[in-house]
Amino acid sequence: MSLLIKQGNIVTASENYTADIYCEDEQITRIGKNLDAPPHATVIDATGKYVFPGFIDPHVHVYLPFMGTYAKDTYETASRAALVGGTTTLIEMICQATSEQPWRDGFELWKGKADGKSACDYTFHQGVTRLDQETAPQIEEIVKQGVASFKIFLAYKGAFNISDEELYQTMALAKRLGVIVTAHCENAELVFEMQKKLLGEGKTGPEWHYWSRPPRTQAEGVHHLATFAEAHGTHVYVVHTSCREAFETGMAAAARGVNLKMETLIQYLVLDDSYTQLPNFEGAKFIMSPPLPTKENQDVFWNALRNRWVATVATDHAPFDFQGQKEMGRDDFTKIPNGIPSLEDRVNLLYTHGVATGRIDLNTFVDAASTQAAKLFGMFPRKGAIALGSDADLVVYDPNYRGVISAKTQLINVDYSAFEGWEIKGRPSAVTVRGELAAQDGKFVGTIGRGQFIKREPTHF
Ligand code: URP
Ligand code: ZN
Ligand code: ZN
Repeated sequence: MSLLIKQGNIVTASENYTADIYCEDEQITRIGKNLDAPPHATVIDATGKYVFPGFIDPHVHVYLPFMGTYAKDTYETASRAALVGGTTTLIEMICQATSEQPWRDGFELWKGKADGKSACDYTFHQGVTRLDQETAPQIEEIVKQGVASFKIFLAYKGAFNISDEELYQTMALAKRLGVIVTAHCENAELVFEMQKKLLGEGKTGPEWHYWSRPPRTQAEGVHHLATFAEAHGTHVYVVHTSCREAFETGMAAAARGVNLKMETLIQYLVLDDSYTQLPNFEGAKFIMSPPLPTKENQDVFWNALRNRWVATVATDHAPFDFQGQKEMGRDDFTKIPNGIPSLEDRVNLLYTHGVATGRIDLNTFVDAASTQAAKLFGMFPRKGAIALGSDADLVVYDPNYRGVISAKTQLINVDYSAFEGWEIKGRPSAVTVRGELAAQDGKFVGTIGRGQFIKREPTHF
C-alpha cells in the first residue's frame, strides 16, 4: 500500500511547512520536496490544502448502557462518521454499570463490539466503577493487555459513581501501574439532592437540568479529584470541563503541583444553556452532563485553549435519539438520557469556530484535537504526529469548503443534530488510516473491520 500526498501545507502541533509525504506499509516513510512514487501508488494533490495528523477523539461512547437505554451507534456507524469528520482514532470508555460482572468480561464485551467492525483505530479507557480485592487484579491484567488509562465517575449516584475509599485506592493503583486516571467530576450526592429538590418543586422540564448540577458542583468534583490525586502523586485528566469555576479549580491544582490536565468538549465551546430552554421539549436534545454552560464561559475556554491551558477538545459522543430515548424524560428531566452527539462534527466545528474566526491558531487546533491526546494516552509519536515512522493517519483539509450540518446527511446513527443548519467552513477532502484512503469529500470509502485496537503502554509513573 503506497500513498503520496503532494504539495500540502503540513501543519502539526508545532510546525507549518509545504512538502510531499510518502507512505509505505502503513507508515510515513519520506517527507520532502518533489517526491516520486511507484506507478501503483495512490496520489493525492493537496495543493492549497492543509495536511494534518489524523485527529484523535479521547472521549467517545459507542457501546453505552446508560440511564435505562443504550447509545445508538455501533462501531460501524460511529467509525464511518468519525472518519468522514477527520477522526482516525477514538478512545472509548469501558463503562460497566453492574458490579457483579467480572471485570475482564467487560473488557472483552467492549472490545468485541469494536474488533472486526471498526473502520478507524480505537482504544479504551478502563472504567473503574468498583475497586476491591476481586476487581483490582483483573484491572491490572487489562492494563497489561494495553489499556493504559482508567475512567472514573464522581457523578451518577447508584450507577457508575465510586466511594471515596475506592477513589483513594484507585489513585494508589493507577500510580503503581503508571496509568493516568480520567475522571467525570461532579459531586454525585449534591446532584442527587438537588434533583430531588427541583422535582419536589414541580420543576421537571429540561431547563432545570442545569440547576441540578450548577458550576460549583463540578468545581467541587475537580477539587475532590485533585486532593485524592495529590495523596499519591497520580496523574489525572478531568473530562468534559465546562465552566469557569471548574477550570479555575483545575488550574489552581496544577499550579500547586498536581499532575492534572483538562479536557473540554466542542459542545461547550459553541453551545450554551439557552438551548435547553427551547420549547416543546426540544431542549432535551441539549441535555448532557456536566450541563451546557452559560454563554460567558465560552470565552474562558477559547482563551484557555489559545494558551494551551486546556489540553484537549473531545466530544463525549453519546448518541440517543430524540424520539423514544430523550422522550423518556418528558415528565422528569432526570430521566433524559444524557449526551449530545458530535463525533462527526468536532473537527469541522473547531476549525470553523476556532481557526476560521482567529480564536486559535492552526497549531493549537492540531494540538488540542490530536497531538495532546496521543501524548497523554501513550500513542505519540505513532499517532498525533507527521513524522517518519508515524502511522500514515493523515487528513487533507480543504479550508475553502462550505457546507451545512444536518441530521438528514450525517452518518452517526441518531435522529437529530444539535447543530442543525449550522454552516461549516472547511472539511476533510481526504482521510487516511495507516496509508489507506478511508474518507473522501464527505463520503466514507474505507474498510469496515480494518480499524485496529491500539495497545498502549503505561507512561504516567
Ligand atoms: O452527558 C454525558 N456526558 N453523557 C455521557 C456519559 C458521561 O458522563 O460521560
Ligand atoms: Zn461524564
Ligand atoms: Zn463520557
